[in-house]
Amino acid sequence: MITRRLPVGVLASGRGSNLQALIDHIEAGRLDAEIRVVVSDVKDAQALERARRHGIDACYIDPGPRRTILTAEAEERYVQCMRDHGVELIALAGFMRILKERFLAAHAGRILNIHPALLPSFPGLQAQRQAFEYGVKVSGCTVHFVDAGIDTGPIIIQASVPVRDDDTVASLSERILEEEHRIYAEAIQLFAEGRLRVEGRRVIIEGPRVEG
Ligand code: GRF
Repeated sequence: MITRRLPVGVLASGRGSNLQALIDHIEAGRLDAEIRVVVSDVKDAQALERARRHGIDACYIDPGPRRTILTAEAEERYVQCMRDHGVELIALAGFMRILKERFLAAHAGRILNIHPALLPSFPGLQAQRQAFEYGVKVSGCTVHFVDAGIDTGPIIIQASVPVRDDDTVASLSERILEEEHRIYAEAIQLFAEGRLRVEGRRVIIEGPRVEG
């Protein structure tokens, strides 16, 4: 039987370790997806390099002059690129810009993000540091749908990571990252299987859940 592979577009601004994890899960046959394109707002993002190494289309698309958002014209170019590649799901993987109406409307209910904290605690930048400095005993990561707010969309999966007394921001971030690499693929697989049902703020996972 040939399984249908969900066509995914990844937006990334930096190192691209989450992108790499998705590629690895796909290549190992654990994720029924196909990354059609990786787009970055940063010309020399390592994520673009990783994509090219795996034969995936990789493009820098000029975000325009604003620092935290894409201009309307830039959003249009991003939307067009996703359309040209037949993308059905967008995965944000360390994409450092807030998406606005044009992009959100074009992909309603089809954009996911990975965040390195247990939302709704510590949204925004440097979430691992925020949690560490606050003194929490448990942190973790969250995969959620993207809405117009900053890290506010309905939560799909979370994984917890205990904070140790001898942790530093770096060591905690590293353990959180391992969990990110696991649950992002798990969430995308659930999406690919059509098993995510959004009821208001709640995301119901339909069918039997195989814990990884
Ligand atoms: C990750 O910590 C992710 O949770 C956050 O940005 C970081 C991206 O890391 N949104 P990478 O580029 O995937 O290595």
